Amino acid sequence: MSQEKIENVGVLGAGLMGSGIVQVCAQAGYRVVAREVEERYWKKAFERIAVFMQKAVEKQKMTTADREAALGRMSGTTEVGDLADCDLVIEAVVEDLAVKNEMFGELDGLCPPHTIFASNTSSLTIAEMAAATGRPDRMVGLHFFNPVPVMKLVEVVRTIQTGEDTFRRTWAFAESLGKIPIAAKDNSGFVVNLLLVPYLLGAVRAVESGVASIEDVDKGMVYGCGHPMGPLTLLDFVGIDTTYRIAEIMFQEYKEPVYAAPPLLRKMHLAGYHGRKAGKGFYDYGGSEPKPMDLNL
Ligand code: CAA
Ligand code: NAD
Repeated sequence: MSQEKIENVGVLGAGLMGSGIVQVCAQAGYRVVAREVEERYWKKAFERIAVFMQKAVEKQKMTTADREAALGRMSGTTEVGDLADCDLVIEAVVEDLAVKNEMFGELDGLCPPHTIFASNTSSLTIAEMAAATGRPDRMVGLHFFNPVPVMKLVEVVRTIQTGEDTFRRTWAFAESLGKIPIAAKDNSGFVVNLLLVPYLLGAVRAVESGVASIEDVDKGMVYGCGHPMGPLTLLDFVGIDTTYRIAEIMFQEYKEPVYAAPPLLRKMHLAGYHGRKAGKGFYDYGGSEPKPMDLNL
C-alpha cells in the first residue's frame, strides 16, 4: 500500500541533529513527534528550538503566530509506540548500528506498511539498516547537515532495494522543507562525508604531528580557503564522539588510511572532550570566547 501524503513525521533522537530536524519539519507544517531516551533530553531540545524561533521572530524572519503554530505541531515522548501513526520516521540517534537497528526493528512491527523509514546516518550504509526491517523497499537515507535549520543540503540515498515511489516521496519531502536534495548512492559517507572526513582527520593529524597550532590550522582554512569555520572548530561543532565513530565506520568499510581515526581523536573521545556540546574539545567553551585547549602536545 502506498500513501502519497506525508503528514506526521517521527524523529528518533533529539540531539544536535534530531532537534534541528524537528524544527525544520514543524516550520514546514508537519506534525512532528520526537522520541528520546529520557524526557529531559527532548524538553531541552524543544527549549533550544523555541529560542531559535524567538530569534527569528525578533529578526522579522518569522511571525509570532507562525512560531506558536510550529511549536504547537511538535510533541516529545520516550515511548517508541507514539511514532506508530507516522508516515515518515527519521532516525537521528547516535552513530551506532546496533542502536539504530533496535529502533527500526521495533518500529517495523508498529508502523503501517506505507511508513517510510529514513536514516540521518553520516557513515553507515542504509542497506545495513534495511536488513533489520521487513520493508527494505521503504528504507532511505535522508542526510541533513549541521546546523539543520541553516544548511541547505540534504543527501537522499537509495539502496539497491529502495522503491522508486519511496525515493520520489522522500525527495519531495526534502524539497518541501526548503532544502536542496542531491541523490547519492548507498556508499559509506555518501558524497559529502566521503570528501569531508579525510579533510577533518587530516587537520587532527596536522595538529598531532606539530605542523601548526590548533588556532593556526583553523586560521589557515578560514583565511586561506574562505571556509566559514576552520576544521578543528568544525570538528567541535560536529562532535568529537560522532566524528570518532564516523572515522571508525568509514575505515572499517574502505580500509584506507585517510579514514583512520588519528590517536589524538581517540584520546579526546575517551577523555570526554566531545566538542562544543560537552564544553570542551579542541577549544574550551567555558569562557566568553572559545580558547584553544592545552592538549599537552
Ligand atoms: N539553528 C538555527 N539557526 C542557527 C543555528 C542553529 N543551530 N546556528 C546558527 N543559526 C543561524 C543564526 O541564527 C544566523 O541567522 P541569521 O542569518 O538569521 O542571523 C545564521 O544561522 C548565521 O549564524 P551566526 O551569525 O551565529 O554564525 P555564522 O555566520 O558564523 O554561521 C554557521 C554559523 C552557519 C554554523 C557557519 O559557521 C557554517 O556554515 N559553518 C560550517 C558548517 C558546516 O560545515 N556544516 C556541515 C558539517 S558536516 C555534517 O553536517 C555532516 C555529517 O554527517 C557530520
Ligand atoms: P547527538 O549525540 O547530539 O544526539 C544523539 C541523540 O540520540 C542523543 O540525544 C541521545 O540521547 C539520543 N538517543 C540515543 N539512543 C536513542 C534511542 N534509542 N531513541 C531515541 N533517542 C536516542 O548526535 P547527533 O550529532 O545529533 O548525531 C545523530 C545522528 O546524525 C548520527 O547518526 C550522526 O552520525 C548523524 N549526523 C551528525 C551530524 C553532526 O554534525 N553531528 C551531521 C549529520 C548527521
